[in-house]
Amino acid sequence: MEIILSPSILSADFSCLADDVQRLEKCGIKQIHLDIMDGHFVDNITFGVGVIKSLRPHTKTVFDAHLMVTNPDSLTAGLADAGVDSVTVHKEACIHLYHTLEMIQKKGMHSGVVLNPATGFKSLRYVAEDGLLEKVLVMSVEPGFGGQAYLPASTEKIKELAEWRAENGYKFDIQVDGGINLNNLQTVIQAGANDVVIGSSMFKNRQLEKNVHDFYHILEV
Ligand code: DX5
Ligand code: ZN
Repeated sequence: MEIILSPSILSADFSCLADDVQRLEKCGIKQIHLDIMDGHFVDNITFGVGVIKSLRPHTKTVFDAHLMVTNPDSLTAGLADAGVDSVTVHKEACIHLYHTLEMIQKKGMHSGVVLNPATGFKSLRYVAEDGLLEKVLVMSVEPGFGGQAYLPASTEKIKELAEWRAENGYKFDIQVDGGINLNNLQTVIQAGANDVVIGSSMFKNRQLEKNVHDFYHILEV
């Protein structure tokens, strides 16, 4: 399976967002991870539909939105209109998960579910069976901020999720998010992740080109 590296613009310089995304795209990055936080589901507040819409004409990269908000349903139409390609919602935030994922797909976007470190995946069976689960995002830190340390138990969770997917013949992607760096990239891929979100380590020292190159080098080894 092809490995996708998804830089999170949470660690970008917001005063030159389009430049940062274009620099990443020139280095071969195909997908950008958009962390939307509302100050309720998590303490932090980032950006919303308006910023994404402004960024859209500046890049051809896939826009992957990670909603850390208490009411994802209220954003679905706006995200589709802003040119977002895929949306993941937190299982902990969605009372009517089935309905929320259906709404995302009806707007023409790919739908996925995010699991906090203490949340299990077995109940996702009910949305997976009906084709609503195209991605599972395993949080390897508590959501809300960049620059936190990878929680080691995440590796076992990714392995178990990959086994569960194989046993049931499901097709969803496995994305991992939080504390990924040059030292643990191989660990999460070997565990079964095929889509890796990288925030602070991708923007480290503002050396975007060097950092992308260093991560790709690890994939080639
Ligand atoms: C955290 C966000 C992440 C964040 C990752 O809540 O979901 O996408 O940007 O940043 P790092 O890679 O620094 O942990
Ligand atoms: Zn994220």
